[in-house]
Amino acid sequence: MPTDLPIIITIDGPAGTGKSTVARTLAHRLGLDFLDTGAMYRAAAAILIDKEIPLEEAGELVSAVIGADLHFDWTADPPTILAWDAPIDHRIRDEDVTAIVSQIAAIGELRTHMVRKQQIIAAQHPRLVSEGRDQGSVVFPDAAVKFFLDADPAVRARRRADQLRLEGHDVDEASMLERIRRRDEIDSTRADGPLIRPEDSVPIDTSGLSVKGVIDEMERVVRERVSALIGSGE
Ligand code: DC
Repeated sequence: MPTDLPIIITIDGPAGTGKSTVARTLAHRLGLDFLDTGAMYRAAAAILIDKEIPLEEAGELVSAVIGADLHFDWTADPPTILAWDAPIDHRIRDEDVTAIVSQIAAIGELRTHMVRKQQIIAAQHPRLVSEGRDQGSVVFPDAAVKFFLDADPAVRARRRADQLRLEGHDVDEASMLERIRRRDEIDSTRADGPLIRPEDSVPIDTSGLSVKGVIDEMERVVRERVSALIGSGE
């Protein structure tokens, strides 16, 4: 990978497909920065809860999020997210945040703000692997390589349950599957930036693949695409 080549790689897909892990490792392998856009929506959800902003007060939420000036500490790996200049990463994976974040991410005004912020981040970090739901479709339509990861909902529920058990939580896998289905439904049917597979994306079904298998395949696709780009002089 030429180190002076600006390149945006997007990875979209539903929860539990392993996007964060593969995005982060792919970024490492290719020497690129890694942007977790879900963390930004999670931070907004944490702000709503902690500042006791009513869900229907979209304007108030967006003002608070703008005031918080969400940004990342790029010296950390993975980069930590900050609000009001204080780390908020310890808060954004809590159950109450996870329970409400899909509803928060469906707020059009908030998405407009986040999309702009993500594009500004990419201008400052032009060699980037960006992971989320709308990265290839809305935020970076001209990305050099777009991936769409998917997996059977039952496989995704099991992965999430295994992860929580490792962290010492009690898990009911059936209700986990139910919650994953509900989140998919909200994420795919919202009016702004719904979860869709961009036509020009590379689909990968991770159901039967190891994490390493997924990353190897993605790295191969990127290197092939970059060689073609350089070869064509684009
Ligand atoms: O990937 P995640 O579970 O951290 O995402 C949290 C929520 O944010 C999830 O409901 C989808 C939403 N999201 C989104 O709507 N757009 C993005 N670019 C990233 C996440």
